[in-house]
Amino acid sequence: MAEAADSLPPAEVLLSKRVQELVINQEEPPHLYICRKSGEATDEEQEENVSSDPLTQIPVIDLSILSASSSPSSEHDGELQKLRLALSSWGCFLATGHGIPSSFLDEIVRVSREFFEQPMEEKRKLEKGVEEFEGYGGDPVPAKGQPLDWSDRLFLDVYPEDRRKLKFWPENPPSFRDVLQEYTVKMRLMTEAISKAMAKSLDLQEDCFLIQFGEKAPLQARFNYYSKCPRPDLVLGLKPHADGSGYTIILQDVEGLQVLKGDKWFTVPTISGALLVLMADQMEIMTNGVFKSPVHRVLSSSERDRISLAVFYTPEPNKEIGPEEALITEKSAKAYKTVKDYADVHWDYYQQGLRAIHVAKV
Ligand code: OGA
Ligand code: NI
Repeated sequence: MAEAADSLPPAEVLLSKRVQELVINQEEPPHLYICRKSGEATDEEQEENVSSDPLTQIPVIDLSILSASSSPSSEHDGELQKLRLALSSWGCFLATGHGIPSSFLDEIVRVSREFFEQPMEEKRKLEKGVEEFEGYGGDPVPAKGQPLDWSDRLFLDVYPEDRRKLKFWPENPPSFRDVLQEYTVKMRLMTEAISKAMAKSLDLQEDCFLIQFGEKAPLQARFNYYSKCPRPDLVLGLKPHADGSGYTIILQDVEGLQVLKGDKWFTVPTISGALLVLMADQMEIMTNGVFKSPVHRVLSSSERDRISLAVFYTPEPNKEIGPEEALITEKSAKAYKTVKDYADVHWDYYQQGLRAIHVAKV
């Protein structure tokens, strides 16, 4: 009876079952997960980006060319220009040459998978409160009427170290903590290299974004497990949204993530060893709108499950950030205000299924 179900507090529904349990019990997705009309799925999904036209392919950028002082200057400048174009049209790129071995990326996927494949009792030891971010579970309860995502998550603050809550860090599989610590170190190096390259691509002072983010800019890791879904036509793995961080670095084992460009969804391909670098709202603000924070989503699949790890890189709490002065010119007026703790405002809108970027617009 729909009415009875509607009057159930979503918090209880959320707490009562993880998506993995629904799947194990072969239950149909409860109405709280349904966000698409059957059949809507999918003219747009059929228009897959199989074309070899470069305008329909997510750009691939070789970071080693940008960081090596030995790269010939024409190659270096060409790659910088590619980077600027990628971020001003797509708002994302696939990074290769980042220095993290593919074997290590495979290892992270493996330990993540092992974590989610454990029995429920094991994972529940790390269960978060409904209103909390950190720990194992789903998002804090969304606004009434907003659908739930077909995914289970483990969300952890990983940097700076004094923000870590080790009670949420898995002890199983036994290598989980070391692997995550090593990945955090690598993400620190990677965000430094990317922040500098982005500044150079816009002819800005190399350190300008690093200064805005601040030395202790937090990194948060969100491990996502997307169970197989019996009704991918009705349910999304992750609803359409733009991120509230500065930018986000995403590792995926199989396809499923899509980025909106214009009015079309493009599937992010899995390229061995590549990581997706995705602009979020705060980079759009800092670049005065030159770089775009794209809307993205994750489809669910009836054929395979999926692991992803999103690392969010966000300016320090309480720190004011705003458009770089050098990007405010006669031709391009200041379009964004100075903001602080934008991620909190972003979250309030996200829970209602809305974007927040307008609050930062002049
Ligand atoms: C996110 C996100 C994409 C993915 O966690 O914000 O967009 O592939 N994740 O899981
Ligand atoms: Ni996202």
